[in-house]
Order: sequence, then structure tokens, then C-alpha cells
Amino acid sequence: MNITLKIWRQANPEDAGAMHEYQVHNVSEDSSFLEMLDILNEELFEAGEEPIAFDSDCREGICGQCGVVINGVAHGPEVTTTCQLHMRSFNDGDTITIEPWRATAFPIIQDLVVDRSALDRIIQAGGYISVNTGAAPDAHATPVPKQNADRAFEAAACIGCGACVAACPNASAMLFTSAKVTHLNMLPQGQPENLMRVKNMLNQHDAEGFGTCTNIGECAAVCPKQIPLDVISTLNRQLGKAVLKGV
Ligand code: SF4
Ligand code: FES
Repeated sequence: MNITLKIWRQANPEDAGAMHEYQVHNVSEDSSFLEMLDILNEELFEAGEEPIAFDSDCREGICGQCGVVINGVAHGPEVTTTCQLHMRSFNDGDTITIEPWRATAFPIIQDLVVDRSALDRIIQAGGYISVNTGAAPDAHATPVPKQNADRAFEAAACIGCGACVAACPNASAMLFTSAKVTHLNMLPQGQPENLMRVKNMLNQHDAEGFGTCTNIGECAAVCPKQIPLDVISTLNRQLGKAVLKGV
């Protein structure tokens, strides 16, 4: 496949940035999207040009490090992570635009790399438990209703990639925050600080500059782990309880 790429280049956080055009030739349809960028970077390196900066780590859809906006869609045309997207999702002769996540709370560091430490600070505000959970036999001896275990597991699948923020017109991180709250608040071990967790994580969410959720649903549509939109309702119910109890 021969592909034209239009890629956002920005040397540093202060640089204005602009789209630059590149050609890549003889790309296998079995290449991953990031391997295609690796090929382009090798060519840029050999030509003495600055390679394109982008994030990745596991390249297996697990770590949440990768993530770019491809043709206007966070993670591109498939519901998966950017690293698990393959060139067979495109056609020979296509022009593909590649941009970084765009949100006030995700400042651009260079090219396609953004600073997502705001998500880490939301976790630090309440995404933990204070009880001693003991060893594996103790965990096995703690009964958890099946529907709660399933709900917690579903929410725990969030890999913190930030696509939900990039897709949301309000740049809200409510899908991420709700997933992190839900996976702990559904389990017995998460109960001691459950309402404080909701309040503290939401306060940090707002302090980081993420926007308000207005139920548009773009977040869940692009989420590579298919976190359901109704985790936000779960969080809102618990926020209501926290307000009623004066937490
Ligand atoms: S909720 Fe989905 S899109 Fe948002 S950070 Fe988690 S895995 Fe990524
Ligand atoms: S590089 Fe780890 S999820 Fe994509």
C-alpha cells in the first residue's frame, strides 16, 4: 500500500505546531498502524530529519500508552487501541490524518505525545483502598455477589488511554473517572472510603480542567475496552448519596 500521511508536528509545548505531509510506500496491510509509523520514522531518521514522536509501550492493547486521533476519530476506524489497529483497515492510496489527543488537561509535549498525568492525579485522589486485603485465601473467603463482581471487572478493564477525553466535545474524563470509581465501589474492599472516593476523584477531575459530562456518548463509542456509558450513572448515584450524607 502507498499511503499519504498528514501528521501534526509540534517541536515542544510552546511551538504553534502544524500539519506536515509525508509519503510511505510498500506498507503491508498486515502491518500495525504503529509499525507503519516506525517505517516512516526509519526513513526520516535516514534522511537526517527528526522522527515523529508518539507514545507506545505494550503494543498489545493493555497498557493504554498509545493513542492518536486518526482521520478525526480517537484510535481510528476500529474500536480498538491505536497499537491494535492494522493497515488492512485502510486502502491503497488513502490519505490519513494523524493528530494528538486534544484537551486542555492533556497539554502537548511533542508531536503526537501528550501529558496525561492528569489521569494519574485523579487516581491518586481516590483510586485506592485502605483496608488490608490479606492473602489469596482471605480474598476467596470474601463473598461478592456475581453481578457486582462482573460489574467491577467490566469497569476495571479501563486502561487509562484517554480516548474518551479526546472524543468528548467537552473534553470530559467522566467515563474514565466513573470506571475507576465503579471498579472499587462495587467490591467489599472498596466500601470504607466509597463516598469520599467519589467526591475526591470528581474534585480532582474538575481541578485538572476536564469538562462536564452532557451525556453525548462519544466517549463510550471510541473506548477500546467498551466501558459502558452507564458507569457514569453509577457514579452520579453515588455522588447524590455523598451530597445527602454531607460527605
Ligand atoms: S474509559 Fe475507555 S477510552 Fe477512557 S481511558 Fe478508559 S479505556 Fe480509555
Ligand atoms: S501500546 Fe499499550 S495499549 Fe497500545
